[in-house]
Amino acid sequence: MKVAIIGTGNIGAAYARALAQTPYEVVIGDRDPGKAAALAQEIGAQVEGGGIAAAFKLADLVILAVPYQATAGVLAQAGDVKGKVLVDVSNPVSADFKDLVVGLTTSAAEETQVAAPGAHVVKAFNTIFAGLVAAQAREGRKLQVFVAGDDPGATAQVRALAQALGFVAVDAGPLRNSRFLEPVGMMNIQFGFFLGAGPATAPSWAHA
Ligand SMILES: NC(=O)c1ccc[n+]([C@@H]2O[C@H](COP(=O)([O-])OP(=O)(O)OC[C@H]3O[C@@H](n4cnc5c(N)ncnc54)[C@H](OP(=O)(O)O)[C@@H]3O)[C@@H](O)[C@H]2O)c1
Repeated sequence: MKVAIIGTGNIGAAYARALAQTPYEVVIGDRDPGKAAALAQEIGAQVEGGGIAAAFKLADLVILAVPYQATAGVLAQAGDVKGKVLVDVSNPVSADFKDLVVGLTTSAAEETQVAAPGAHVVKAFNTIFAGLVAAQAREGRKLQVFVAGDDPGATAQVRALAQALGFVAVDAGPLRNSRFLEPVGMMNIQFGFFLGAGPATAPSWAHA
């Protein structure tokens, strides 16, 4: 199965590298096609890289590895996304990382679904820092990935992808639960970057 990754920053590059080590085929799209091509070349000949529209066209599952504030602009360039699975990994944070800019009665993922009504938006991976995406970075630890979405087929695909990357995939219910998962991601940022835990921290749900 071919997966498109939009964005070549910390998260985009981390998932491109990690997925290239699984049976998934990877295509990278960036607003600067040259950046995507360079990252693809660095990862290996089996990875393709180019513009945003081309990457969307080639894949049925697309990881949106851009800031929440950039999502609408990316979707405007995406072409027909009907039936595609869009993975929203975002934590919709303010510029100083101190506040969420959307929440309570909606979420970044729900707003992405509104912007792409024909697609199946799935919230996942927002609680995993970029440095923990590579399996080698979490040897001996099984980290949870919370997966929320409204289409059972789409959420199953994203859970399978999380498992292929070595995570424990946790069914986190419908897409509206993103309004609760995004604050969890925000708390993880607080622990990681403001409360001294560092970037190798991640939340897990325990059942006592
Ligand atoms: N970093 C983490 O540990 C982490 C963890 C969980 C979730 N996330 C989420 O993952 C997403 C990406 O984070 P990141 O850390 O990878 O950020 P990043 O390193 O700043 O990379 C952002 C990427 O988005 C692109 N981009 C920015 N504005 C854009 C626009 N208007 N149109 C098209 N592309 C645009 C950037 O392109 P340029 O290079 O051209 O600027 C870059 O490729 C965010 O939503 C974040 O909340 C991050």
